[in-house]
Amino acid sequence: MYLSTRMISIGTETAFEVAARARALEAAGRSIIHLQVGEPDFDTPANVREAAKRALDAGKTHYPPFPGIPELRAAIAADTTARKGFAVAPDRVFVTVGGKGVMYYAILALVDPGDEVIVPDPGYPIYESVTRFVGGTPVPIPIRQEHEFRLDPDELAALVTDRTKMIVINSPANPTGGVLTRGDLERIAAIAIERDVVVLADEIYSRILYDGAEHVSIAALPGMADRTIVLDGFSKTYAMTGWRLGYAIVPEWLATGFGKLIINSITGATTFAQYGAVEALTGPQDAVDAMVAEFRARRDLIVDGLNAIPGVRCLRPYGAFYVFPDIAATGLTGAELAERLLLEVGVSVLAGTAFGGLGTQHIRLSYANSRENISAALERMRTVIAPLVAANA
Ligand SMILES: Cc1ncc(COP(=O)(O)O)c(C=O)c1O
Repeated sequence: MYLSTRMISIGTETAFEVAARARALEAAGRSIIHLQVGEPDFDTPANVREAAKRALDAGKTHYPPFPGIPELRAAIAADTTARKGFAVAPDRVFVTVGGKGVMYYAILALVDPGDEVIVPDPGYPIYESVTRFVGGTPVPIPIRQEHEFRLDPDELAALVTDRTKMIVINSPANPTGGVLTRGDLERIAAIAIERDVVVLADEIYSRILYDGAEHVSIAALPGMADRTIVLDGFSKTYAMTGWRLGYAIVPEWLATGFGKLIINSITGATTFAQYGAVEALTGPQDAVDAMVAEFRARRDLIVDGLNAIPGVRCLRPYGAFYVFPDIAATGLTGAELAERLLLEVGVSVLAGTAFGGLGTQHIRLSYANSRENISAALERMRTVIAPLVAANA
């Protein structure tokens, strides 16, 4: 049997493969510290779990309306209007299975074979994978540590061609934690408007911000709501990765098509889970604040710890729960170092190249793990990295 030709171009998310490998080593008796995972280690807040249980007991076990239950669409519209600063009506809201669903539908709905999609490099690998899958051409925009892991709008402007259909932005970003400023977003918006390009704004980490960094949604800038698809969700903010719930805010002209893609794929996101999400958005937010405060303390622990290892250069990011240090001084690539860290000292991290070609001399660490484990991982990493750097000096 043969797979379809389009399967040649589909990519993957290395994090899941690395996690499986690390777990296999663990099952064989090795002590492994997991810094590869992109999910909060906290449990979903109790009030959210209770709401979903109540929904189950109340018989909310039938098909949902395909765009989402009305209570959740209304709650998302109100939350978006309040937090992202642009007026959203519930009929522009589509609940999806994970935020990931949004990127899939957005690219399927808009990108024809031969169209170009500008994607961050390093960036979340699925933007590129799905673009290729539909026959489009991903065009990487470099995201550099020297520029605080923010894209350079001049570079972006130079990459836009007559074939550019979409620009993907992600702020705060995976894998770097970089946060775009209002000024950056204004420049990106001006380019999108001038060149008539749609923006997919992945804002899944928008509530995980530090040191007073501001979340600006590009959709709130003048003229942008009608050319922006906002991706957000519950996985990261409310520690709900396993619930598989995300959402899109789409312009009016995309709503019918987006709904058809949902009908053609998932029918709708799990009904009783959506009731939990209503509680997440409308209930007390103190669990979110507590998680962000803890992430901030861990960020400082991991950034200071990495910078204390000779040869490691790590930026202190303003958002998300990742760091993306430069490890060039080891003389190894990020992939080679990740392999040695896993096999020699049981620290599981990702190669920077899991996120694009520009990540060659980086590794990505997630600090969604306890301070105790982060400290232990730093000690273990030092025993591998310090001798490499000394030998390479
Ligand atoms: C940048 C980014 N967007 C989207 C997602 C997908 O989120 P979800 O688990 O809700 O599908 C992730 C998950 O790691 C992510 O890092």
